[in-house]
This record gives sequence, structure tokens and C-alpha cells, in this order.
Amino acid sequence: MNLKGRDFLKLLDFTPEEILYLLDLAADLKEKKKKGIPVDTLRGKNVALIFEKTSTRTRCSFEVAAHDLGMGTTYLDPSGSQIGKKESIADTARVLSSMFEGIEYRGYGQDIVEELAKYSKVPVWNGLTNEFHPTQMLADLLTIREHFGYLKGIKLTYMGDARYNMGNSLMVACAKMGMHFTACTTKEYFPQQSLVEECGRIVAQTGGSVTLTEDVKEGTAGANVVYTDVWVSMGEPDEIWEERIRVLSPYQVNRGVMENAGEGAIFMHCLPAFHDLKTKIGAQMGERFGIAEMEVTDEVFEAPYSLVFEEAENRMHTIKAVMAATL
Ligand code: CP
Ligand code: NVA
Repeated sequence: MNLKGRDFLKLLDFTPEEILYLLDLAADLKEKKKKGIPVDTLRGKNVALIFEKTSTRTRCSFEVAAHDLGMGTTYLDPSGSQIGKKESIADTARVLSSMFEGIEYRGYGQDIVEELAKYSKVPVWNGLTNEFHPTQMLADLLTIREHFGYLKGIKLTYMGDARYNMGNSLMVACAKMGMHFTACTTKEYFPQQSLVEECGRIVAQTGGSVTLTEDVKEGTAGANVVYTDVWVSMGEPDEIWEERIRVLSPYQVNRGVMENAGEGAIFMHCLPAFHDLKTKIGAQMGERFGIAEMEVTDEVFEAPYSLVFEEAENRMHTIKAVMAATL
């Protein structure tokens, strides 16, 4: 398997075998890191990390992984570069790829990261766009495989806004790996029909399935993995909170949902999560709408079957694999 020079923009661009290769590489790098065996084979190289939206996990994962691999990093924060304001994406790509061996981009439209990759001479990695979050998918697949021992046939139910980066990406990831994906949400928030159809063609090859349902009991019954995400994503207007809380409250992941999923089900969340009032926005929303939790209850979030922090750790090992494979 040779992924040298490849961009990592969305899982749709990768075969199931290539995805498995990245997961195996991540597992190997994780084991070496735990044993204290250094893998700094990319010494002397440098990567640029562009963040037009904020981040904790993705930024730290890229920085730690790059340093572990022996590389230098330059972080460009949401206000710290000329991108899009004084300089086009095409010009930015040509400037940065003359100085760096790889470029990470987190921002708005998928078209922006695709444009960056088109004009870049070096690999570009998508650190989240409105449409896709592919590095998160590798961490999630690794976490599921570590827990269950396999991926094919696993039933994953996603509850929340399934039209956005996490819903889209999980549907594609499950389809590619022969898993059974269910979007359990109001029909206005089902993934785009064209992507559902594309995943339908993929599952015809891989043996997975894609189900869309508004029924919580039916959608979560027998799920191995129950997954959710924040109800309002980065870049969306504050005014949308009211609608989201009203429309998505029936799709909160709570004890009833996990009991319906059944014995052995795990809970996952890409994080950050609103599971209590201990954040500024959580407290504001709690006061405005009289609620103490949003997409997931604190009880589920803190339960032994919640793998959210294992999942967060795996962001670093999988991002390291992406850089090691493509550089
Ligand atoms: N899950 C995730 O992408 O987290 P950050 O926004 O903190 O990077
Ligand atoms: N849907 C969320 C994911 C955060 C990792 C967002 O885009 O803000």
C-alpha cells in the first residue's frame, strides 16, 4: 500500500483497503508510543496547520503527532493569516507548499479544502469542513475496532443533525467498512439525498446498509454504537439554538436510548459535548431554555460504556498515521 503524496480530504476518496491500512498503521504507531519506541522518521520536515475555526483535539493531535514524527509545525489561527481575506486559496496553497511538506486545513466549505489541495504541491489534510470530518472517522473506526475487535456488521446509530460533517462522514465511513448506519433524527435533518444514494452504491459492494428513520425506538434498537454530536456546529448562527433544541430534544441520547440499544452498546461523541452546565454556552442555553443537558445526558456521558475519551486519544494516533502514510 502506498499513499505517499495523497491528500486526505474525505473518506469517499479512499478504498476500504486503504482505510484499513491507515487504521493498522495507527494501531502500530499507538502501540509504539505506549512502549516508548520513538518513530521520528519525518525529521526535518515541516507542516502548516490552518485553523479558520477553533479546535482542541484536532490541533493538539496534529501538533503532538507531528512532533512525535520529528516534524516542525506552524499554527495559523482563525485571525492569524491572510487566507480568504487578502489572499486567495490558490495563492495560499502555492506559497505554503513551497515552504511546508504538508498542510492541514480546518474551515468552512469542502470546496475550500479541495481548492487548496488542487493548487498545493504537497499533501493537504482536512481537519474538518462543514461537510466532512475525515480524520475524526479514522479515530472513531479505530476506537470501535479496538472495542469490538471488528468493524464489518457493526450497527452504528447517529442521532442529531445528520446533514452536517459528522452525520455525512459517519454514513460514508460505515458504508465503506460494511457497517450498518442509521440516521435517527427528524426527516428535515436527514443527510443529503445525493450522498445517501452514493453510500447506497458503496454498501452494495461492502455489505453494509444505510437507514434513515425518525423513530427513536426503531432507530436505536440493537445498535452497537450510539453516536451524537453538538446540536449547533461551529460557524452556525446563535439564533439556530432555539430551533435545534426544540427539534432535536426527542433525539437526545439518554438512559432510555442506551437501554433500548441493548447489552454491550457503547456511546461515542466527537466532542466537545454539552452534557452539563459547566461550559459558558451550556450555562447560557441552560438558563435560556431551562435545560441541564443537551445532545447527551451527563449520566450517559459519564457511564462506563461511554468511550469518548478513548476516541479523543485516538485522534492523535490516527492523525499521525495519516501524516506518516502520505509524507
Ligand atoms: N472532535 C474535534 O474535532 O474536536 P476539536 O474541535 O476540539 O478539534
Ligand atoms: N459538528 C461539529 C463537530 C465538531 C468536532 C462542528 O462542526 O462544530
